Amino acid sequence: MAGMVSKSVLDDIRFRCDIVDVIDAYITLPRKGTVIKALCPFHKEKSPSFTINRQRQIFHCFGCGVGGDVFKFVMLYEHADFPTAIKILAEKAGIPLEYEKGSEPSSDKQLLLTIHEEVAELYHKELLNSPEALVAREYLKKRQLTREIAEDFMIGYAPDRWDFILQWAQKKNYPVAKLDLAGLVVKRAEEGGPHPYYDRFRGRVMFPIRNEQGRIVGFSGRTLQQDPKAAKYVNSPETPLFRKSHILYALDRARREIVETREAIICEGQIDVIRCHQAGFKTAVAAQGTAFTEDHARMIRRYADGVVLVFDSDNAGRNAALKASVLFMQSGLAVRVASLPQGEDPDSLILKQGAPAFAEALAKAVPAIDFQLNLLLGQENIRTEMGMMKVSREILTTISQSPNAVQRDVLIQTAARRLGVAAAALQAELRPMLKNSIQREASAPPPALTIHPPLEMMLAEHLGACPELIALVELYLPLTLITDPLCLRFIEVVRDSIREGVELMHLLGERDDENRTLAGFAAQVLSAPSKTGLDGSHREVVESLILKFWRTELQRRRTLLEQDSESATDEQSRDDKMALASQLTTDLKRLQRWDTGESVLLHYQGE
Ligand code: UTP
Ligand code: MN
Repeated sequence: MAGMVSKSVLDDIRFRCDIVDVIDAYITLPRKGTVIKALCPFHKEKSPSFTINRQRQIFHCFGCGVGGDVFKFVMLYEHADFPTAIKILAEKAGIPLEYEKGSEPSSDKQLLLTIHEEVAELYHKELLNSPEALVAREYLKKRQLTREIAEDFMIGYAPDRWDFILQWAQKKNYPVAKLDLAGLVVKRAEEGGPHPYYDRFRGRVMFPIRNEQGRIVGFSGRTLQQDPKAAKYVNSPETPLFRKSHILYALDRARREIVETREAIICEGQIDVIRCHQAGFKTAVAAQGTAFTEDHARMIRRYADGVVLVFDSDNAGRNAALKASVLFMQSGLAVRVASLPQGEDPDSLILKQGAPAFAEALAKAVPAIDFQLNLLLGQENIRTEMGMMKVSREILTTISQSPNAVQRDVLIQTAARRLGVAAAALQAELRPMLKNSIQREASAPPPALTIHPPLEMMLAEHLGACPELIALVELYLPLTLITDPLCLRFIEVVRDSIREGVELMHLLGERDDENRTLAGFAAQVLSAPSKTGLDGSHREVVESLILKFWRTELQRRRTLLEQDSESATDEQSRDDKMALASQLTTDLKRLQRWDTGESVLLHYQGE
């Protein structure tokens, strides 16, 4: 396990990660305000019962009962443990995490980020101003990548020199080892020469690659040469910042739009993505080439319910689309595949025929299952028994990859209709295939709601709304009268937060399971709709609750006394008990109202 993160770092993260912004990046939030209501991302519902309280920095769902602070949300949403949630949020906030034992020092990451920002800026200035970059400017012009686009995407130019970055870094006093770590330079094969390193990117148009948070973490450089032997693109290698399977080009700018439309456009190349965005298709992203991973799918899953693949319309593109659709499907995404005219990619299509033509291709995109069926039906004759068996097996293999029973059923229906066979037959064939693959369900059933004693709940809610009233509780109500462990712990935390002058939720930094449960409970309590408007009336409610708890307690004692006195054999002790019971009856009457009850309370509290 990673070392412990210090409390002050946790507070920093909490401070910088507004819960509304964090949740907003994951799900659609209808409107801003102090209390925001939305459809719960953790269970299926038609009307919103998921509330976020910006002021208190908590969320709670009245439907399924989940709740907590920003860390809890990330844990639930990302199915992550607490340390991972810290990491995710720290990254969002740009806060370096110092662990006792870490993989690479975070100071390195900070430095690498700085170097990347500066190098991107440097390449960009080169492109715009340097006489050497004329070839690049002409190339971009030819490709209709305008100056505005270049500025928007910070496109740059790496001069055709072996030591451009090396020289620059020397002036800036950046150690060459860090450039190496950043993947900006390459070590020469032969040892012992005067110049052990050279620039990785030379004579290329440079596309900075940003992570989800918009920080530049790598580069992709396109050659200006026609030479088919030169690598068309040279990319940053895997570095502490740049992990190809964790990066989708332009996701930082697309994610808000994706959240709106719930569908991401997946392209193959960064120029395609740039063209899409420029033409108004702002949900477009791309991996580095066609190497999609489960991680990519998971990233998209956070923002989208589905993807539409627009790959090159050649054989390689079609096969890539097939592979990618299965991968996305495994993450429970609905997948559509768009077909472009032969030989076109999104960039060339938009340039030649305009945005409407591309929009039409998107509109005509077919579900992945139909796309695969089209391909299979082109290859096999399903009028033969063998052909039909082959096609159905292939299609069922794809369907079996879906983790979602509903999605599988929809796909089966489609396949049955297209193949002209009974859905039940396909269903029967699918079943044994599912046994082989792991059966996961996309959405777990909502956790059962725990019922807490209503009066204790009410006390907790009013104390949550008006914590100062804890003074009243401390004075008049022994906590032994609180039976529900969570209510009890909550009241204790309210007390501690007042004593220590610390925000209540901060006391519940989710360091262990107990606190995590408690933080969820606290969020539920604090999210309860206000039952009274004024603090004055909170006080009245708390007073009447205190009276009520005591009445229950005294009634319990009286019943015990009465039972005892009935079974008592000794006359004297029976009389004593009866006297005590009748004293309790008198006190119970006085406990009906605060003004008469208060002195009774003081008596019992002091016993
Ligand atoms: P494409 O060959 O389809 O290039 O590669 P493209 O995006 O259409 O680029 P242009 O229009 O020819 O300039 C798609 C993606 O695959 C990756 C790049 O990310 C590219 O955008 N790729 C391609 C590489 O990483 N290396 C290569 O040598 C080629
Ligand atoms: Mn292209």
